[in-house]
Amino acid sequence: MTANDLVMPREGGVSQAPQLAQSQGAKSPPSWLGQKMAPRMAALGKLFRTTTFKLTLAYLTVFALFAAFLLGYFAWNTRRLVTEQITETVNAEVEGLAEQYRQGGIRRLMFSIQGRVGHPGASLYLLTTAAGEGLAGNVGSLATGVLDNPGFVETVYRRIDEQDPVEHRALVRVDQLQGGFRLLVGRDLEERERLFDVVISAGRWSIAIVVVLGFAGGFFVTRRVLTRIDAMSLTSQSIMQGGLHERLPVAGSGDELDRLALNLNAMLERIEALMRGLKEVSDNIAHDLKTPLTRLRNRSEEALRGAEDVSQYRAALETTIEESDALIRTFNALLMIARAESGQAVGDMIEFDAAEVVRGVGDLYEPLADEKGVALRVDAGTAAPVRGNRELISQALANLVDNALKYGAAGDARQNGEPPEIVLRTADQGGRILLSVADRGTGIPVADRKRVLERFVRLEQSRSEPGSGLGLSLAAAVARLHGGELTLEDNHPGLVCVISLPRAGAAA
Ligand SMILES: Nc1ncnc2c1ncn2[C@@H]1O[C@H](COP(=O)(O)OP(=O)(O)OP(=O)(O)O)[C@@H](O)[C@H]1O
Ligand SMILES: [Mg+2]
Repeated sequence: MTANDLVMPREGGVSQAPQLAQSQGAKSPPSWLGQKMAPRMAALGKLFRTTTFKLTLAYLTVFALFAAFLLGYFAWNTRRLVTEQITETVNAEVEGLAEQYRQGGIRRLMFSIQGRVGHPGASLYLLTTAAGEGLAGNVGSLATGVLDNPGFVETVYRRIDEQDPVEHRALVRVDQLQGGFRLLVGRDLEERERLFDVVISAGRWSIAIVVVLGFAGGFFVTRRVLTRIDAMSLTSQSIMQGGLHERLPVAGSGDELDRLALNLNAMLERIEALMRGLKEVSDNIAHDLKTPLTRLRNRSEEALRGAEDVSQYRAALETTIEESDALIRTFNALLMIARAESGQAVGDMIEFDAAEVVRGVGDLYEPLADEKGVALRVDAGTAAPVRGNRELISQALANLVDNALKYGAAGDARQNGEPPEIVLRTADQGGRILLSVADRGTGIPVADRKRVLERFVRLEQSRSEPGSGLGLSLAAAVARLHGGELTLEDNHPGLVCVISLPRAGAAA
């Protein structure tokens, strides 16, 4: 049974847990403890289930295994090196003693062994006859049969002067000398084993410390990540409950969570803007279309009541059709703005020369300009490649020229006796294509330049001209759709409207 089961019995376990505690006579945990522990256990469970924690565990396991392998290899090599050293020492001693035997016979060898035995930290020596009778040395007892096999062997032994009954281990070399004598030289292995033990125990500790530190590190890192994720979840919940203005928290570290939060925030920003736009459109429709519709209705009613002959009815119907056309135009403009703002038109984008479009619009408005006595000049000689919706860009330019003809044909220029002039121009400037329409009219005061881009906004002085206040809104929406903008500037006197678009082929 896990701790979780004890403090948080789930369905079915509710009645079993207390029964179990009673039947075993065990003390059930105090209820205040359960209340305190339950949220903590739940939080821990959540933490252990995170990807970060699982990744930390995986890395930790791999690292610990690698460290264990490395330390094992190190310990094994140390042991091998010490054994090699012992072998070399023993070989050298055997050679020395054999030389003594060759030069001075068994007596000299015995003498030499006796001399060496007396040194502190002496090796193990044993010289016996062929029958196994001890002649010299410091070995008291050996494992049986060791002396019968020449060569290196590991064996247990006890020194001659040792009272301690504990047997030690040694690496010994047995040689058969001429005359049947047997010579054993060896060294104790205790030091080697101690060194090995030290390395192994150091290794164990290191791995334990690595595991504990890794676990703690993983715990803290995961907790930090989890805190941030929790904050994000909380914010998204309150956004879902209607707080569309709220934004996900950004720590400022620029990590992947920050990038995600920034992207989601940008998305929320966009959604909010669209919602606001939608609300504005419906508000505008409610307010601004109501007036012309009411006018239309009143005029029809008046005609029904007051008209006396067919010609009066006909005149009333003609006005009705005119007004209906204006209404349809307004609806179309609104729909086009909505299309541009929602980004739907992105699908129809092609690459084309905006200079051609400018020339086309110029040609289209030429007769109207002539009629109004305005000089319409087109300065669009060089190519202006852009990528976008040709129809929408053309409509935006037409709206600007329409405004220039409506509001720019009167003003200072005419008063000076010169013919008013409208200039359509393209320019290629720093990776952007600028399409401008300049007039010599009254212009728009700086304070109103932002406002006139909103839907249905018309300035007081232009009320005499027909219009619904949607032309500039559409031009601005089209510019935004193409990643550009519409700016209104002073033409000293007059107005210059500039649509700046990214040049096609320029680095994004
Ligand atoms: N070239 C201009 N010179 C002076 N004022 C202008 C000029 N262009 C626009 N305006 C002002 O900005 C207002 C908004 O222009 P916009 O084109 O959006 O609407 P509109 O021309 O009134 O109507 P619509 O274009 O929908 O027929 C105009 O009513 C006018 O007051
Ligand atoms: Mg207009």
